[in-house]
Amino acid sequence: FALRSQDDQVEEPQLSDWFNPKKRPDVLTVTDWLAPVVWEGTYHRKILEDYYTKQKITVGLTVFAVGRYLDRYLEEFMTSAEKYFMVGQRVIFYIMVDDSSKIPWIQLGSLRTLKVFEINREKRWQDISMMRMKIIGEHIIHHIQYEVDFLFCMDVDQIFKDDFGVETLGESVAQLQAWWYKADPTEFTYERRPESAAYIPFGQGDFYYHAAIFGGTPLRVLNLTQECFKGILQDKENDIEAEWHDESHLNKYFLLNKPTKILSPEYCWDYHIGSSSDIRLVKIAWQSKEYNVVRSNP
Ligand SMILES: *[C@@H]1O[C@H](CO)[C@@H](O)[C@H](O)[C@H]1NC(C)=O
Repeated sequence: FALRSQDDQVEEPQLSDWFNPKKRPDVLTVTDWLAPVVWEGTYHRKILEDYYTKQKITVGLTVFAVGRYLDRYLEEFMTSAEKYFMVGQRVIFYIMVDDSSKIPWIQLGSLRTLKVFEINREKRWQDISMMRMKIIGEHIIHHIQYEVDFLFCMDVDQIFKDDFGVETLGESVAQLQAWWYKADPTEFTYERRPESAAYIPFGQGDFYYHAAIFGGTPLRVLNLTQECFKGILQDKENDIEAEWHDESHLNKYFLLNKPTKILSPEYCWDYHIGSSSDIRLVKIAWQSKEYNVVRSNP
């Protein structure tokens, strides 16, 4: 008999094996720094699935649901994530809540694990959103880095509509914000005051990234959360708050540390924009933002 090479030593598919940017000539599919922008039609999911399934990877997903965000959004987020997030892969959901007694019952498949953590409730939603960076970083250091190969961090006020698959995995992954993906960078709502750590001058910037979805390997996400939190603290000391809070700092981070993969707005679409031929298959949609209901302060 012939000796077989070890089955688990499968070679990682090259970008050109699974990604074809020419399939979507209508949109930008490769950045200046040659990172893929993943649009529906450009990727061959099966090739990557075969590889990652053999590698037995685990993907983490953090989500924060505090106060009325928990009541209003968590159940739909989780039931839809169970159905569409990384189907066929091992997944650990990290749910950060202020009241674990309010967690809805969610039926999970056998490859899926749920870990619930209680966090303190900040008074202002802006602080909840900024503290998220600190808390994610602490959890990566203490356990997440040993538990998963890739990690996504998502907002809870959205709902999965179709497969969010392994084509989204990468070292450092950013999401194009649906309202801005076609805009000129001078129009982006970056932080424009030089006093803020999140400052981006006019004339700079690649894209406007959405803080509702970011991810990567645990150590890259750790670096992102630590750098963003450093900027947030520096701003607090200087008595300034970036216009879009953690999202402003995230945009500054991705300007200095280019993401290795970018997700098209199909991965986080807002139906209020109306229909667009660019958007072929929505994977996640924004929920209606009932700010008057879920936010206790303006
Ligand atoms: C993040 O990574 C960069 C580049 O490797 C490094 O210079 C920086 O010190 C890191 N930041 C933190 C907080 O570890």
